[in-house]
Amino acid sequence: MAKPSHVTWGGRFSAGPAELMLTFSESVSFDRRLAPFDIQGSKAHSAMLAHVGIITTKERDAIHRGLDVILGEIEAGKFVWDKKLEDVHMNIEQALTQRVPAAARLHTARSRNDQVATDMRLFFKYACAALGEKIVLAQRAILKLAEDNQDVLIPGYTHLQRAQPVWLAHHLFAYLEMLERDRERLKAVADHANWCPLGAGAIAGTTLPIDREFTAVQLGFVDAKGKPRVTQNSMDTVADRDTFIEFAHACALFGVHASRIAEDLILWSSAEFKFIELPDTFCTGSSLMPQKKNPDSCELLRGKSARLQGNLHTLLTLTKGLPLTYNRDLQEDKPPVFDSFEQTGLCAEVLAGTFTGAEMIRNRCAEAVADPGLLATDMADYLVEKGVPFREAHHAVGAVVRIAEKLTVKLNNLPYEEVRSVHKAFGPDWTEVFDLKRAMKKRAGTGMPGPVQIKKQFGRWAKLLK
Ligand code: ARG
Repeated sequence: MAKPSHVTWGGRFSAGPAELMLTFSESVSFDRRLAPFDIQGSKAHSAMLAHVGIITTKERDAIHRGLDVILGEIEAGKFVWDKKLEDVHMNIEQALTQRVPAAARLHTARSRNDQVATDMRLFFKYACAALGEKIVLAQRAILKLAEDNQDVLIPGYTHLQRAQPVWLAHHLFAYLEMLERDRERLKAVADHANWCPLGAGAIAGTTLPIDREFTAVQLGFVDAKGKPRVTQNSMDTVADRDTFIEFAHACALFGVHASRIAEDLILWSSAEFKFIELPDTFCTGSSLMPQKKNPDSCELLRGKSARLQGNLHTLLTLTKGLPLTYNRDLQEDKPPVFDSFEQTGLCAEVLAGTFTGAEMIRNRCAEAVADPGLLATDMADYLVEKGVPFREAHHAVGAVVRIAEKLTVKLNNLPYEEVRSVHKAFGPDWTEVFDLKRAMKKRAGTGMPGPVQIKKQFGRWAKLLK
């Protein structure tokens, strides 16, 4: 049994926790990554305590110096973490107490409940910014592939059947949109995290005359005008795990996007499509089949997305049945968050690496996009321009497609008389619709893949991703 005096709450206990209980309940093995935020929080809190006169400025300075030394030791890997002290908060506080007598006053008007909430909000602000930067790298790599292949057309797909021609860039820009929303979402999570919990105490604040706004400003929990943002209900503050869930959700949705992008690349790199050659550096071989080059980075992106969704689900389930306010269950909120952070960062980097080394196989793209069936809709639009109602035009073109299939000729190789026999609005110029340049040029509206729009989008993305 550990001596009860070992832990900060040992006063009312006659026996310390069993060894098994220590192993079961410790979180320092995973929450020690919060140390820089914990120390930042403790410095702000002690600065506030000095500001309101609860401790002296001398005591504050001694605490600050001690915390700086501890941070140095942690960063140098020299700090000894002790699971008997449960978590990052008590490890640091104990170490400080052993060196600085004033440390005994540090935990005044503070609980680990508002402390851990603060550490995590600081973590989320940092993590969202860090992930945003990594996602930009992936976006830049995608933009580069688009730039290097500006003249490449491919079939666009619905139901995984060839649908209509698009510039490759248009397809790649769709990825940029998805990832841009992920970045926006992370910014929103960081904004939601931007409220200071310190001062909520364990549940109901404190009887001491603290200044929460002062602490908030110290820690950068401020609005655009620099005004402090302080949480407004002490019970909600220590019970709330919304930002955890929102963060995991932002990561999971990024994972869904990365997975869909990866799925395209897996298809495109198969012999059946062969639109793209993925870089050797992000593929692996088979131990048995010498010819194999497997798109493992993409498959793992698909796999990791399941894991990111699992983390979100863990947090939703963890939180849903808990009575207000803090319950120890909530300690389990950190592993899924940290895992989502790590894996999302890795996924973004791998996405960037995979795109950076990828090369389009232009002749295969050209062959695929030469399928005249891709322009059947343009044929219908041709009839519409001759005054035919769209439903009638659609039906007529469908009949033409059926005849081409029956005669086993390509749609654009049908004799004019056959086409004309289906609908008299088809003129001798009907094959002009099969000119891809013309087809693309006509798609001129906002958001469409026409050359004018594509040029605009190149400019927009170059600016956004600079
Ligand atoms: N390690 C704990 C956690 O992560 C810190 C808060 C502990 N609070 C308490 N009342 N035991 O949730």
